[in-house]
Amino acid sequence: MVTIFIRYQNIKNNMLDPSIVQKVIESSNIVEVVGDFITLKKSGSNYKGNCPFHNEKTPSFMVAPGKNIFKCFGCGEAGSPINFVMKHEKMEFIDAIKYLAKKYHIDVPEQQVTDADKQRFQERESLLIINAFAQKYFVDNLMKHPRGRAVGFSYFKERGFDNNTIAKFGLGFALEEKTAFTDIALKKGYKLELLDKTGLTIVKENYKFDRFAGRVMFPIHSVSGRVVGFGGRIIVSDKNTAKYLNSPESEIYHKSKELYGLYLAKTSIIKHDKCYMVEGYTDVISLHQAGIENVVASSGTSLTEEQIRLVKRFTENLTVIYDGDTAGIKASLRGIDMILKEGLKVRVVPLPPNEDPDSFSKLLTKDELATYIREKEIDFLSFKMLLLSDEAEQDPIRRASIITEIVSTIALIPNTFLRSVYVKEAARIFVISEQAIYDEITKKFQNKLAASYTDYTKKKDEYSYWRTAKIPSFIENLNCEIEEKQIIFYLLNFGNHAFETAYNENNEIYIITVAEFIIREMLNDDHEFKNLIYKQIFEESKMFLLDTGKVEPNNFLYHKDPQISEISANMLSPNHILSNIWTKKGANIELPEDTYKKDVPKTIIVYKLKILQMALEQNDISLKELNNENFDYYKAYIEQSILLNDIKREIAKQGGERTIL
Ligand code: CTP
Ligand code: MN
Repeated sequence: MVTIFIRYQNIKNNMLDPSIVQKVIESSNIVEVVGDFITLKKSGSNYKGNCPFHNEKTPSFMVAPGKNIFKCFGCGEAGSPINFVMKHEKMEFIDAIKYLAKKYHIDVPEQQVTDADKQRFQERESLLIINAFAQKYFVDNLMKHPRGRAVGFSYFKERGFDNNTIAKFGLGFALEEKTAFTDIALKKGYKLELLDKTGLTIVKENYKFDRFAGRVMFPIHSVSGRVVGFGGRIIVSDKNTAKYLNSPESEIYHKSKELYGLYLAKTSIIKHDKCYMVEGYTDVISLHQAGIENVVASSGTSLTEEQIRLVKRFTENLTVIYDGDTAGIKASLRGIDMILKEGLKVRVVPLPPNEDPDSFSKLLTKDELATYIREKEIDFLSFKMLLLSDEAEQDPIRRASIITEIVSTIALIPNTFLRSVYVKEAARIFVISEQAIYDEITKKFQNKLAASYTDYTKKKDEYSYWRTAKIPSFIENLNCEIEEKQIIFYLLNFGNHAFETAYNENNEIYIITVAEFIIREMLNDDHEFKNLIYKQIFEESKMFLLDTGKVEPNNFLYHKDPQISEISANMLSPNHILSNIWTKKGANIELPEDTYKKDVPKTIIVYKLKILQMALEQNDISLKELNNENFDYYKAYIEQSILLNDIKREIAKQGGERTIL
């Protein structure tokens, strides 16, 4: 049984007033706290999302506002808003409290950072504190120091950033004196060793100096809004000096895992279900000022898998806005192949030659810019093909290798139907037969098959549990009462029985109950029970489970709703006859007690197959009604049917595997 720990740790020993801690605990809303980090979707009376604590593609992470807790049915993580912050941000209890206090505008008396305090904070925390201090210092320079105003502030003004924008992004200025920052930070009591680690100070054997002296400063925020690093830009162009300097890698800053602007963009990304990707700091800032707030920057490097996953927590739609120069575009194209593999929908907005989003946004009004971006947005692969076909024309010798490159990108697309669309387009653009492209793809697949096998054995640990393929969200209004009833039967009768064992991240074994398994499976889909009684029993079971760690049949037997108590009484009665929806006639009669471990997953599989079958039949009817008139709809239905069949096959296969187990 998984128990949920809500650890209110020993709060006597820290320097926070217990009444403040209490206030934070009372004010923190789990949906809001978790919602700052991942996208949550409403699911019954709860919310669900992809678990941030383990790698998963379909949600098993549940947030229960009623209980003010979260729980992952995949990896077992669970707890209060405070536990979530501690775990997610790798914070100590006291810092999680401070973080939440800030979020809920609860005053925590600012403490001088004394030696004792400093020791108590872990190094990570100290580095963040130093960065926060530096950030404020750079802003003060920019806004108040005569030199900062004359040089830094006027630089940003010349670039067209208004006061709001400057404040929103926390832009600042590092004074020109070689040790201005280091001196003040040392005086404040921060250790040189730690200043060195943040990269703000460069320490040599006999001397030390400020890394960013004389530069305008762009703080880089983590997804939760803490300053993890800085970018500093020179003010006068000088060929011998790097235009931008960035904080070095440290315990708190990993360039490949951060996206500039994500903290300020995330709400807008969720709202628009889309994220724009640009190259630089100033591109992000200018687009914000032009009213486009769902934008992040990769900061000049090509995208990493971690960055893509970060985006994927908030949306599946990524649109890259590129500088108009082809060299830059080509360099980044390779990175994008990886995005396709991650299953994101990638689009591109090409800009006119020699413009970047920053410069381009200044040529247009807000409306014109929005229109341009909307109208010029094209599918990534079409874009890549057009680009390379130009190159192939100019350089016939490279033609073959260009085609091979395109084919390998096409081969990455997981969906068969979509792939065939691109094959057609590639055949057209490169004037080559579709068959030739398919032959190439087949070759690629054979290579990939070998590779993916090792990939699978490596990755297996990330999905330490079995789960059925996800039912797509476009399926609606299908009634599978018999199957729903069957699932509820197991939930009530066997909910607290052990289903399987699993390991948590500390390698400790724990038991997944039947109820937990069923809930995990249902969360997986965007599909809910259609029978309202069953739905309510299911929802309340989730609540009981979160509350007490188990499902209590008596709660239903003596339920205040007479319909619920009657139905559960029937189901719980010893002579309840299970309709044999899967066993062949004449099969041995086995009692559910003996076979529930096999029967529960089977029940889920039968339920899902039934839904899929019904959805397919519905699609067929819709297709007939369309009568070939509206091609777009026609195509969409065909596409859906292909997908449904794919999932059906996958689930049927899983059914087979599960029966052997
Ligand atoms: N970059 C960097 N180091 C450099 C140059 C660039 O880290 N020496 C990163 C920065 O994050 C920069 C991004 O790459 O924002 C894009 O570089 P570039 O297009 O040259 O700069 P812009 O963002 O256009 O900057 P600006 O408009 O200030 O010239
Ligand atoms: Mn620029």
